[in-house]
Amino acid sequence: MTSSNASTEGNGPLTITDRLGRPLRDLRISVTDRCNFRCRYCMPREVFGADFAFLPRSEILSFEEITRLARIFADHGVQKIRLTGGEPTLRAELPTLIQMLKETIPGIEIAMTTNASLLVQQAEKLAKAGLDRITVSLDSLDDDVFRAMNDVNFPVARVLEGIEAAQAAGIGPIKVNAVVKRGVNDHTIVPLAKFIRERGLILRYIEYMDVGTKNGWRMDDVVPGSEVVEMISKELPLEPMDAQYRGEVAKRWRYADGSGEVGVITSVTAPFCGDCTRARLSAEGSIYTCLFAAAGTDFRALLRNGSSDEEIGLVIREMWGMRDDRYSEIRSDNTVHMPKVEMSYIGG
Ligand code: GTP
Ligand code: 5AD
Ligand code: SF4
Ligand code: SF4
Repeated sequence: MTSSNASTEGNGPLTITDRLGRPLRDLRISVTDRCNFRCRYCMPREVFGADFAFLPRSEILSFEEITRLARIFADHGVQKIRLTGGEPTLRAELPTLIQMLKETIPGIEIAMTTNASLLVQQAEKLAKAGLDRITVSLDSLDDDVFRAMNDVNFPVARVLEGIEAAQAAGIGPIKVNAVVKRGVNDHTIVPLAKFIRERGLILRYIEYMDVGTKNGWRMDDVVPGSEVVEMISKELPLEPMDAQYRGEVAKRWRYADGSGEVGVITSVTAPFCGDCTRARLSAEGSIYTCLFAAAGTDFRALLRNGSSDEEIGLVIREMWGMRDDRYSEIRSDNTVHMPKVEMSYIGG
């Protein structure tokens, strides 16, 4: 045992805990910082324009590097991997990475967060490679509202086709994430809930967050999750559900007639840092221990300088042992303009 915050039963994975007693359980892997959408709350086109410098290929981790690092993280308690971006399906040969992760880490669960724009072409290959679950970002069913929010005039119908392709390929259960911004899509909350419920999918509304520094976030733009629940409840009565596991991000509600569930992710009005078990790997190989962190720990250097698994494991244990992040709980007017990593870089 090299660290006082690590324990293990038999020869299984270590459980390491941070300074607030939180174990490491989830690894979110950003496979690219690029996206084909320009959602205003994430990659506003004034900032992410034609001359924006995305990461060059040589700086992005290879599949071999990602897989090796993920295996070492799994040895330290990670049970679930979520592939993110930018838009993960823009990374060439993504199914190959999924297959490598599945083969290398027995029992690992692999999910992906995607805008679904490329799923018609890719769903089957992703399913065959072993992708377990997907979460699709879909902010509104209203085509005009959706096109304005993605800001590349992408039609909602093609996202729905992407969801159908994923269903047909047997990837599931499918979740849908909708970020709510006041005055932009809050009038379309209830129709989206009805539509998703009819299709038997799980919907989660996300409070618009002050991630990064480029989206011009203001508290006035946030629609509290409680308000979302109230709006839906007026038409479709809801009752609260218990959390499924420690660290669950969404507070879940079920329709009183038993027809499905809807969640709210209240990272602004009711933060959930106390149970946060997530580490985030950027496409260039830095680990961030909080979505709102300003800096990460560089693992690419270790992967490329001949460090052993044991040496990399030691850095993981040191990093997690030092962790005391709880940004959403201490957020204030002063923190809004602090340096922070961008959402499209770290994948949400
Ligand atoms: P599952 O429970 O496995 O479905 O995963 P998840 O809820 O962690 O995944 P998902 O990527 O769908 O999370 C939904 C959204 O919640 C993200 O896109 C973020 O906007 C937000 N979110 C997820 N994790 C965190 C977190 O650690 N902190 C904050 N503040 N927001 C988070
Ligand atoms: N606030 C809340 N959610 C956001 N996402 C991107 N930017 C923000 C933000 N500022 C969501 C996307 C997607 C996930 C990766 O993060 O809609 O579902
Ligand atoms: Fe792309 Fe997702 Fe960001 Fe929209 S929220 S710009 S789809 S990464
Ligand atoms: Fe975790 Fe940071 Fe989000 Fe809190 S703000 S839940 S510590 S990622």
